[in-house]
Amino acid sequence: MKMIEDLISDILKGAFMRCNYDSVYGKVTLSNRPDLCQFQCNGCLRAAKEYHKSPQVIAEEVMTQLGDVSCFKKLEYVKPGFINISVDDGLILEYINDMANDISFGCEKRGTGTTIVIDYGGANVAKPLHIGHLRPAIIGESIKRIGKFLGYTVLGDVHLGDWGLQIGLIITEMKRRFPDLVYFDSNYEGEYPKEPPFNISELEEIYPMASNISKSDSEYLKEAKKNTYLFQKGHKGYIALWKHILNVSIDDLKKNYDMLNVHFDLWKKESDVQGYIPDIIEDLKNKGVAYISDGALVVDVKKDTDKKEMPPCILVKSDGATLYGTTDLATIYERNKSYDPNEIIYIVDKRQELYFEQIFRCARKSNLVSEGTKLTYLGFGTMNGKDGKPFKTRDGNVMRLENLINELIKIVYDRVKEYDISTKEAKEISRKVGLAALKYGDLSNQLSKDYIFDIERFTSFEGNTGPYILYTVVRIKSILEKYYRIEGDLNDKDVSIISPTGESERKLMLKLTLFNQIVTNSFIEYAPNKICQYIYELSNEFNKFYNNNKIITEKNIKKQRSWIKLIILVKDILVNGLDLLGIEVPDRM
Ligand code: ARG
Repeated sequence: MKMIEDLISDILKGAFMRCNYDSVYGKVTLSNRPDLCQFQCNGCLRAAKEYHKSPQVIAEEVMTQLGDVSCFKKLEYVKPGFINISVDDGLILEYINDMANDISFGCEKRGTGTTIVIDYGGANVAKPLHIGHLRPAIIGESIKRIGKFLGYTVLGDVHLGDWGLQIGLIITEMKRRFPDLVYFDSNYEGEYPKEPPFNISELEEIYPMASNISKSDSEYLKEAKKNTYLFQKGHKGYIALWKHILNVSIDDLKKNYDMLNVHFDLWKKESDVQGYIPDIIEDLKNKGVAYISDGALVVDVKKDTDKKEMPPCILVKSDGATLYGTTDLATIYERNKSYDPNEIIYIVDKRQELYFEQIFRCARKSNLVSEGTKLTYLGFGTMNGKDGKPFKTRDGNVMRLENLINELIKIVYDRVKEYDISTKEAKEISRKVGLAALKYGDLSNQLSKDYIFDIERFTSFEGNTGPYILYTVVRIKSILEKYYRIEGDLNDKDVSIISPTGESERKLMLKLTLFNQIVTNSFIEYAPNKICQYIYELSNEFNKFYNNNKIITEKNIKKQRSWIKLIILVKDILVNGLDLLGIEVPDRM
């Protein structure tokens, strides 16, 4: 369906044209003074400059032209040059009845035929997910869902870190602890034992330990680097050990992401693209794009217009090792080859901004990606504690994601356990509400901004929070249940939403009409926070409407049925909006 702003813009544009003015001036937007009008047109001011007339004269001519158009309730000129507009209820009613009868609530499938790869999550094998992995997972999942809803073919890829020094560190530590393990023999050819020599808890303990030792013990670090090198060159025993690490880790990561309701379409790994690297390097050398500088192979990515320093992109270090960036370049190449995407979006901490600028430039210069493929980096801000510093545990350590989630769930559980429900149900409700608090608290901020993680505020059932919106949905569900119990099922396909009887009802209806516009813009601008804001405002409008009207006891059947259909639509839009954020709704709360 056409967006409501465009629908009304078209009418005004026609009038501007009939008055011999450029139609662009007829653009209408939602009013920023909802107390005065629903929409506004600000074009007369700019038209006045072009046509050397007063804005008022232009506005009056245009409004006269609109005199015959029946869909306006109010057209009014206000200084210094606005036309305030309110539309006839009929227009809004037709719009929301059409929305109610459409499975996508009026959202156009604008993405049909367009493929997007989203690189998000950023997990590494052998390391537990920590709080730093929360934002990319939540944001990426939401952008992926919005894209899919709008008809794009979206491939979410976790792009697992399984290739760097972390593997060498684990090998080194394993060797120190269990020197007799068969894997340390470079000629290891034996059976690949089904049972891994460690479980996930041991693995997660081994890595931080190794990483710590390497910080103060240079010999240990040297050994880890050597082991990384041997592993990357194909040491058979190390590779067997690494396969165990992958199996144990990936199972655990999948479990954790599942719990977060975050689901990847692709579980590709850094190791998957290593095979492409030698050819890419050869090619770039031959083309003269890459050259040797201080023993390293680099690509210049500076531009004359650069205001800040733009170091060259290093492909191979002087010791022969390739880097994180080399892998990213090969990944771009592989994605381009396998999926021919129109866009690749990276959702990574904003501290990696310069790095991605280098990589993108290098990929372009090296023709690793088709010209038409857009490369987008979305850098997100840091989640801070109340002290304004990156969120830590009480003892100053980086918090494990699992622990944070469990803490949130517990807060909700302590409230919910008082209800007259089974423990199982209380747990399920707490999980959904706790995650909603977390995700909404995160997504409601502008993506690139740092924000303060405030557990009390996020879990509150009031205010601009996830639980408040869930509560609104649950409230609507219970009104509907009550209605069905008394009146029996309503086949809402046979019912239409009819004219509002009060202002709060009208405002609620108007808010509903904005859904397709909000969802579309939130995708174009990579801004899930727009959906948060929208469903919050929609919840507020619903709650005002609900307080002003007695739905269940209403005697006028036609009116009552219209209300039921209206609140079904509100519920569906809220549930859909929440789903686009990756948030699930409990049956009760
Ligand atoms: N695994 C990386 C890290 O822990 C993040 C990966 C981001 N994606 C990418 N294509 N580089 O920092």
